[in-house]
Amino acid sequence: MISKKTIDEIMFATKIEDVVGDFVTLRRQGQSFVGVCPFHNDKNPSLHVTPRLGIYKCFVCDAKGNAVHFLMEHAKMTYPEALEYLAKKYNIEIEYDRPETDEEKALRSERDSLFIVNEFAEKYFMEQLRNSEEGQMLGLTYFKERGFKDATLDKFHLGYCPGGWDSFTQEALKQGYKEEFLIKLGLTKKSEKNKLYDFYRGRVIFPIHNTVGRVIGFGGRILKKDEKIAKYFNSPENEIYHKSDTLYDLYLAKKAIRQMDNVYLVEGYTDVISMFESGVENVVASSGTSLTDGQVKLLYSLTKNITVLYDGDAAGIKASLRGIDMLLEKGMNVRVCLLPDGEDPDSFAKKHRDSELQEYLTQNTTDFILFKVQILLEEAGNDPLKRANVVNNILESIAKIQDNIVQSFYIKECARLFELPEATLGSKIRTMLWKANTDKRKAENSVPTEQTPLQEVQIREQRQVEQQLRPQTNLRLESEKNLVKLLYKYGFYEISVEAENEDGFIQQRVDQFIFNELHNDEITIQDPTLRKIYDNYAERAAILQDPVSMQRTLVYSEDEDEYKFAIDNLETDQPYSPNWKKKYDMVTHSTENNIQNLQQEVQDTVLSLKLRIVEERIAFLRNEIKQKEYGEEDQILILAHINLLVKCRKNISERLNRVVSQ
Ligand code: CTP
Ligand code: MN
Repeated sequence: MISKKTIDEIMFATKIEDVVGDFVTLRRQGQSFVGVCPFHNDKNPSLHVTPRLGIYKCFVCDAKGNAVHFLMEHAKMTYPEALEYLAKKYNIEIEYDRPETDEEKALRSERDSLFIVNEFAEKYFMEQLRNSEEGQMLGLTYFKERGFKDATLDKFHLGYCPGGWDSFTQEALKQGYKEEFLIKLGLTKKSEKNKLYDFYRGRVIFPIHNTVGRVIGFGGRILKKDEKIAKYFNSPENEIYHKSDTLYDLYLAKKAIRQMDNVYLVEGYTDVISMFESGVENVVASSGTSLTDGQVKLLYSLTKNITVLYDGDAAGIKASLRGIDMLLEKGMNVRVCLLPDGEDPDSFAKKHRDSELQEYLTQNTTDFILFKVQILLEEAGNDPLKRANVVNNILESIAKIQDNIVQSFYIKECARLFELPEATLGSKIRTMLWKANTDKRKAENSVPTEQTPLQEVQIREQRQVEQQLRPQTNLRLESEKNLVKLLYKYGFYEISVEAENEDGFIQQRVDQFIFNELHNDEITIQDPTLRKIYDNYAERAAILQDPVSMQRTLVYSEDEDEYKFAIDNLETDQPYSPNWKKKYDMVTHSTENNIQNLQQEVQDTVLSLKLRIVEERIAFLRNEIKQKEYGEEDQILILAHINLLVKCRKNISERLNRVVSQ
């Protein structure tokens, strides 16, 4: 048992920002730090780390705790493992109260035992490679032929498993490691005649580590070419090894990934190792499969930028394109680098000097979408049907991009490449997005899942509305109504909006603008009727191209809600300009004279909806903090959140006033 004194020492020395910072890229913000939360699919940095209190807390998913909790939750350590990790990090010698009793030994979790057996195996294989005659003759020679340096062998803990029948297994059993664990870890197998043998016999060993550097599995490569036997043997899934949550060798690459704010993705063990040898250390391998959700999760708290390295074989490229769309969906910026035909990162790195590799990488890295367009268009040739499929395929990728400005850039680029009107592509994308959004919400509503506090707030607010417990004059309802009205009346017009990431303005359609604003702030229309009308917009906009027809679909809708909404709200309003008739003939063109008015009206309406929501949240949180027993840290965080909202309210009101007074 680790003594109380040691635990206190560890707690005292631990800096929460260091520990979380090992896994999440943190940015200072006043007294605390913020980062992208690794516990949910976080778009904005929602994880707050407060050094003074020694805690982390996510505002969205409510993950929270101290450094030990973080290691247990994120790095999946047990309590003693977390303490040992911290002790090592801060050079604290661990003092044990007393030796482990037999009972405690038996109780030690199976996970613990699996780690310990793996650690034994890793040491054994390393030792064999370096010091046994067979290991040197076969294993070491193999690695030397591949050109690996001694330092590399040590850095990656490479090893060798003797080619006999059961040398490793016998040694392990002799040292008291249990057969059950050896088999579970896949180190040992049982023959048909019930004899134990070494799974990796006669192979060189690539140990696989988790994010804190503990060995969780192995890959064993055959030495000679043999078509009949698999080139690699790999560990089976077990309590400590989950292939789909593991990247080779993220533990070693973490630091460089953070520094470079980019990660290279390659296929295999040897690709990673060779790139390391050439001085490119921000590289991980997916081990032959396309990236999984779990693997992306490991990366996106470190960087949003990923560069996929391809060898130049067309079949391989095509197969992996789909997997990459998933990266866009997670908000990653994806680029690709195509290696010359027949080269993989390993062979290329070996043939070129370090500086040449780095130069090649910088010069040949291109944008993923444009790369995909190229590949697919080449394949489609001049067949119009095939080309149309390509367009749809690419638009699906573009629809997955999270940043609007980036998205509109791609729409422009593709319009050029496909020689199609930008407006057509834009409207297709809008329909896709809108539909995806509606479907997602429907799916969410039908399956009750565990809610985060902020979601709870939203749900409770929603219920209040639905039970009509709200005051008669519902300001939010008014804002929502105005917004939906504007959408149907002026959705096709263009206004100029401030570009997010750069200076200046871009032209954008009103419907696109409204969609983005709501989508980005995760705002849903609360009133069920208005929400229905809002959701139905995209499908209509895909077919109809003028405002009068749009409004007519509502007036003549079979749905009573829509029909009522239309006669109550649309007919009575004056159109924007006396040249109304002339204007709506010019679909997707700016409304010349009244553009300024329309722009203000749209922005105003969106802002006032936001203002209502912020006000409701403030009121809710203020009430909440009064009513519930919150601990000090939670109070501080809620107050901080209220402060943020108050600032937000001030900002919105100012913008509203300015717009109005102009
Ligand atoms: N792989 C596997 N089983 C195989 C072949 C490949 O598990 N039979 C996985 C391994 O993780 C490997 C990756 O797919 O690292 C990429 O395969 P490949 O390029 O063939 O392997 P390299 O590691 O590059 O090995 P080498 O260069 O030694 O052939
Ligand atoms: Mn290879």
